Amino acid sequence: MSAVKQSTQYVCAACGASHHKWAGKCDACGAWNSLSEEVTNAVPKGLKPGKSKGLEIASLADHADNPARNSTGSPELDRVLGGGLVAGSAILLGGDPGIGKSTLLLQAAAVLATRGNRVLYISGEESLGQIQLRSQRLGLAKAPLELATGTSVRDILSSIDTANAPDVVVIDSIQTMFVDTLDSAPGTVAQVRTSSHELIRAAKKRGFALLLVGHVTKDGQIAGPRVLEHMVDTVLYFEGDRGQHYRILRAVKNRFGATDEIGVFEMGDAGLKEVGNPSALFLHERAAPVSGAAVFAGMEGTRPLLIEIQALISPSVMSTPRRATVGFDSARLAMILAVLETRAGMRFSDKEVFLNVAGGMKISEPAADVAAALALVSALLDKPLPGQLVSFGEIGLTGEIRAVSRADTRLKEAAALGFTAAVAPHSVKNEKNPVLHRVERVAHVDGLVKFVLES
Ligand code: TYD
Ligand code: MG
Repeated sequence: MSAVKQSTQYVCAACGASHHKWAGKCDACGAWNSLSEEVTNAVPKGLKPGKSKGLEIASLADHADNPARNSTGSPELDRVLGGGLVAGSAILLGGDPGIGKSTLLLQAAAVLATRGNRVLYISGEESLGQIQLRSQRLGLAKAPLELATGTSVRDILSSIDTANAPDVVVIDSIQTMFVDTLDSAPGTVAQVRTSSHELIRAAKKRGFALLLVGHVTKDGQIAGPRVLEHMVDTVLYFEGDRGQHYRILRAVKNRFGATDEIGVFEMGDAGLKEVGNPSALFLHERAAPVSGAAVFAGMEGTRPLLIEIQALISPSVMSTPRRATVGFDSARLAMILAVLETRAGMRFSDKEVFLNVAGGMKISEPAADVAAALALVSALLDKPLPGQLVSFGEIGLTGEIRAVSRADTRLKEAAALGFTAAVAPHSVKNEKNPVLHRVERVAHVDGLVKFVLES
């Protein structure tokens, strides 16, 4: 038996990579100032063969039942989770401080408790009084929720790692938790990782759903929950502009469902409210038709979402005119501009170009190319598009308009919201879409320019 050696490592809070020496910048992910010291026990060399019962081998045919789901009472949250909370699963809810993570989980916890689940909400950040006050303001004070404050994982485990464990446990937040066998302070990578590991192990053993809150800061100053993304079953991010009222819940990893689903909420005086029809929310400030505005019929997961894309073109005196985007990929904009210049003879090179996605939404679908191109051409030619028009389609480098998924769903959503016409890829079949009066099928960016000129 050799004594276990201790060694010092420097671990990056952003990506979890470990380095032998401290440095200002993490070599692995490029984050600045994210390394912190961690003392680890060097792993003894190799395992000695000893008593082990070996692995239990199963076949694929020994099928497991579909996991039981527990509805959180919020259709938006349920959808993002893949249909509700799965017993024994660990979920990380990440997001900027103040975005509404505690509010979301307190509301969900109260509903779950009201429906007869035993829900334990453990806060390491707020006092009992603060939570009680908040729950009164949210109208949840009557929910039979079990509340506790605490930061010691050892204390928490002695309450939840028992035969009489709750059905759902909320930990707010993982950065405040600590394991007393480690020297480092709460919030360091070692503490976040070890605390999560202990809590997740208890969740799997006792079969309760574990919800962990994790603050993310953009500069990676606090040990980001990034390091525990691989330890949990589901990673949700709660995002939004603090100046705006609505919030978007996104699944970035889900072992029990799809990862492209979003849930939309509105933060008001009485907490978070579901937004069942986000298209209406993103479009409600639309004015009469002006040049440079196009409505994109997008998809977020299984859900259609109509979003306005706005372009502004102004003359430039600079040798390299400005191109700026908000909510849209700037490389994608550069490509669309180049294709419009080269394949359709539009001239943007002496103009400043601004592209904005209205309402603070972010678009990542290539299917938005056509709507962006229409907005740009409409702005350049100063010709408004028809007011009741949506568009979608991907643009290729030769100027071709390519098919995108779920054209039918996009068109149906547009019709449901009172739109009457669409510009769509050539491949979209006309006869299958009696929902809109007019579907203009376009095969090339030429056709987009022609459409704007004729409208
Ligand atoms: P909170 O849930 O505490 O955020 P997090 O846990 O992510 O840090 O939400 C904090 C913000 O939400 C706070 O700035 C106030 C606002 N808020 C409302 O606007 N209405 C409400 O009913 C509640 C509870 C919070
Ligand atoms: Mg909070």
